[in-house]
Amino acid sequence: MNQYTVTFMPDNIAVQVDKGTNVLEAAQKAGIPIKSTCGGAGTCGRCLIKVKEGQIHFKGGHLSAEAREEGYFLACQTIIEGDVIVEVPPISLLGKHQVLLQDKGRLQDGLADLPASYSLDPHCEIATLHLKEPTLEENNSDLNRLLMTLRKEKGVEGRASLKFLQDLPEILRQAGWHVDVTLARADGRLLKVSPAGTGRCFGLAVDLGTTTIVVSLLDLLNGRRIGRNGNYNRQAIYGDDVISRVIHATGQPGGLEELRQAALTTISEITSSLLNKYGIAPAEVTVAAVAGNTIMSHLLLGVNPKYIRLQPYIPAANEWPDLTAGEIGLPINPLAPVYVFPSVASYVGGDIVAGVLFTRLAMEENLTLFIDIGTNGEMVLGNKDWLISCACSAGPAFEGSGITCGMRAMEGAIEGVNIDPQTFEVELDIIGGCRPAGLCGSGLIDCLAKLRRAGLIDRTGNFQEAVTPRLRSTDEGYEFVLAWGAESSHGKDIVITSADIKNLIRSKGAVFAGIQSLLKTVSLELDAIDKIIIAGGFGNYLSIPNAVEIGLLPDLPAEKYVFAGNTSLKGAELVLLSRQAWLDALELARKMTYIELSVGNLFMEEFVSALFLPHTQLELFPSVT
Ligand code: FES
Repeated sequence: MNQYTVTFMPDNIAVQVDKGTNVLEAAQKAGIPIKSTCGGAGTCGRCLIKVKEGQIHFKGGHLSAEAREEGYFLACQTIIEGDVIVEVPPISLLGKHQVLLQDKGRLQDGLADLPASYSLDPHCEIATLHLKEPTLEENNSDLNRLLMTLRKEKGVEGRASLKFLQDLPEILRQAGWHVDVTLARADGRLLKVSPAGTGRCFGLAVDLGTTTIVVSLLDLLNGRRIGRNGNYNRQAIYGDDVISRVIHATGQPGGLEELRQAALTTISEITSSLLNKYGIAPAEVTVAAVAGNTIMSHLLLGVNPKYIRLQPYIPAANEWPDLTAGEIGLPINPLAPVYVFPSVASYVGGDIVAGVLFTRLAMEENLTLFIDIGTNGEMVLGNKDWLISCACSAGPAFEGSGITCGMRAMEGAIEGVNIDPQTFEVELDIIGGCRPAGLCGSGLIDCLAKLRRAGLIDRTGNFQEAVTPRLRSTDEGYEFVLAWGAESSHGKDIVITSADIKNLIRSKGAVFAGIQSLLKTVSLELDAIDKIIIAGGFGNYLSIPNAVEIGLLPDLPAEKYVFAGNTSLKGAELVLLSRQAWLDALELARKMTYIELSVGNLFMEEFVSALFLPHTQLELFPSVT
């Protein structure tokens, strides 16, 4: 088969690809993170590139006449037919994520302080053993010698594997028969042997997010977090949301394996950089915990997720069998046990279980609502006696997708908007303090609230006539200019359109309807809620008053709201440090009742009522005037 060279500018990165490959696939091979919201279907228009030189065939797709005139193509629809040079404009790159690792100081960071209800009781321990040197008279094998000493000195029945055995003879002799053995405490599995005094024991916590993957490295002997790092999930090239990924995994030959490898590559890159930075060998990482949503967990483990997407939405498993790093392909000690969080149902996954575990919702008397808003709004309501959960399809608007000038919360994203109600002039808060490039979820919420307050839109979200050049009519309806091209980082106006506003109202309506549906299922009212925990990166920049003003969140006193940051990662860290926490996670998932919102009319009725600003029932939002 013919091979061609694709060179990506401005970074001048070249890769060899087969004839017939498209530019998006080539970019993935080159490690260039091009936006691909629709997963390469040609419908989102986000993967813009320019072909500077060479032969291509453009298949067409969602590309405006203006973009066409400016020389743009869609990477996913551009077939390579010779050596080509491609330019990737900054607007098409995923960029450097700003909210991966920080919780903006809104809640305690650094789990390593275990919650009071848990003590440090990690899954691995180190046993220091003094073995008798063999003689002609006492000629037991190395393994028997070690197992007998372990039994005698520590009362532990050890279990060896071939991998452990392969290293054993040499290390015993080099160490003068005085060794540290790392053990899995659950079953006595022997994980590592090293000269006495050199044994170390680390754990890897993984937040397996659809958009980003964050990894944290803990020292299990003292419970301290050593470091953490994150990056975009390389699966993003197959689509922004989990459904696009399921379609790729189940509709393309080899698709599931491609997605599995993409997640593993992301985890491996992040882990390697952490291990290198702190001088830790992969073999010294002897346990891992992974928290992800149900579909992400299936994809990482290479399990067919097809039936999660089809009625009646059944996952292959909610609880996973005993797993090791070697069989999953994690880049740590291959014998390390891996604890993948259990799911509750298809759309309430291990990330939510980890969050509920970490926030101790299920240990409290008070009624707490836990919400994680992303493409799906997942929520859990309950206390120490009962827990119910649901997931509503909020759409990707709060993640900046499906919105004309939407983007993720990264440098250049507008996170706050102020509109003068007299002059309609605009003030913007931009992540990174640079020129704006688009609007992220919190900016969109702010924008909607301020447009309403300035009288530029009515309660249905329709634009009202106003004398300002910022409000203009287009073929698709009105749009409001938040930043002129001269002020933006890409030279184009940043706008919010009528269609964007309708989209946002649907998203916020779905989340609020989910909350109401949970409450009504247990015959409670909003004011019964004692605490609302906002989990996930979305909460970092969210203004509660504005979220209430548009009817996204309940109109309850500000002191009832708590931002909890990346609770998925924190739950995974907790499980590394406490065996009891893992047992609690299993029990939580089994105990949580899942409400399928597509059954019955309750959700749909609540959703229709919520398609106004803030709501058709104004009495639910007494503080919103
Ligand atoms: Fe190319 Fe969506 S149009 S990825």
